[in-house]
Amino acid sequence: MIDSILIKNVEIVTGAEIRTGDVFIENGKIKAIEPFLQRPAALIIQESGLTLMPGVIDTHVHFRDPGLTAKEDLESGSRAAASGGVTSFFDMPNTIPAATTRQAIADKKALAAQKSLINYNFFIGATPENLDELLKTENVPGIKVFMGSSTGSLLVNKAEDLDRLFAHTNKLIAVHAEDEDLIAAQKKKYEGTTDPSDHQRIRNPEAAIKATRQAVALAEKYRKRLHICHLTTEEETLYLADHKQEGLITCEATPQHLLLSSPGVYDAWGTLAKINPPIRSSRHRDALWRALQLGIIDFIATDHAPHTLEEKLQPYSKAHSGMPIVELSLPLMLTQYTQKRCRLTDIVRWMCEKPADIFGIRGKGHLDVGYDADLVLVDLKAKKKIINNDLHTRAKWSVFADSTLQGWPVMSFVNGQMVFREGDFFDEIKGKELEITK
Ligand code: DOR
Ligand code: ZN
Ligand code: ZN
Repeated sequence: MIDSILIKNVEIVTGAEIRTGDVFIENGKIKAIEPFLQRPAALIIQESGLTLMPGVIDTHVHFRDPGLTAKEDLESGSRAAASGGVTSFFDMPNTIPAATTRQAIADKKALAAQKSLINYNFFIGATPENLDELLKTENVPGIKVFMGSSTGSLLVNKAEDLDRLFAHTNKLIAVHAEDEDLIAAQKKKYEGTTDPSDHQRIRNPEAAIKATRQAVALAEKYRKRLHICHLTTEEETLYLADHKQEGLITCEATPQHLLLSSPGVYDAWGTLAKINPPIRSSRHRDALWRALQLGIIDFIATDHAPHTLEEKLQPYSKAHSGMPIVELSLPLMLTQYTQKRCRLTDIVRWMCEKPADIFGIRGKGHLDVGYDADLVLVDLKAKKKIINNDLHTRAKWSVFADSTLQGWPVMSFVNGQMVFREGDFFDEIKGKELEITK
């Protein structure tokens, strides 16, 4: 274990500003940030031209552990994340067994303590019957509710069950907002289709906006914290612009919904592009950017949802929904910066600061004295083509394969320890359970 690191002469990016200077890390924390620092340190990093940011916090990943580890596990998922500058994650409950009990959450945390290179916590999944478990489970980011069914069997779609959840629980509720009945009706209409682009017509914008309205109404009725996962429609952004009450309702968008659109993505990638909610037209994609810029969408999370190629390359109706992306979110967004679509300070707010602040993650998300030394050093000049075989996710495929991105992580630090450096991992380092203070 290294107890101190001095990082010399880097561009330091926070959500508010960019400056040049030195950063001193000791005992896992950021101890000093100055234009010039001279301190004895176990490790001194001085490579010119690099940029230092807080480590990315991805509040929405499916690392598939336990039970579905042919797709991913906490080790491969956390390695992939670390290689992409992600230093903390929240994992979703649709594992096997589903994480719907205190015991299942405790078991996942124990697994992560052994296997994860980066910091972790786990959403507990809601079912129509587990209110007692939801109430008693401690230190989780929130309760995940699938209002429409997706991968796995978790589903809470009856109005009275949803009402009871919002009325009686004591934690943030994160929703996958797609209306189950509308999807079922559209599935009938499109029965037998083999066209992957019908996915957006089956899981249509109406299904998304209906569920989002329903969740917002319940949050307002009971004054409960609601987080809407992976927003995908212009209609939802417009609705939330009017209904998002400060502090009560937050939402996220994924890089894939911000960067890809129909019909191109389905023409190019077929069922690999099948995800829930679906990738939609450029009208929706552009609206998501506007909403992100305006703060209607609070932050970016990936919905990293790996499946094997065999599971994906099936006829449309059988192909699994979801795509791996955790290790590419930061390079994808840095590429947007190099193309002048956003600022570096935006990226730090959208991927580091706001996730930490919104979930109240103790000590995380900010590159500032006193915070935990979860950091990523990036090379904004580095250009690299994405090659499936080079990916660290067990899934080893990406709909971004063959694109060249500019802006890549060089080193990632978790709690003051280097976990990744230019393709190498320091596996003996393990992350910690994230402390949720809200
Ligand atoms: O596309 C998706 N895949 N959407 C989800 O809601 C679940 C995820 C998965 O776990 O595969
Ligand atoms: Zn979802
Ligand atoms: Zn998800």
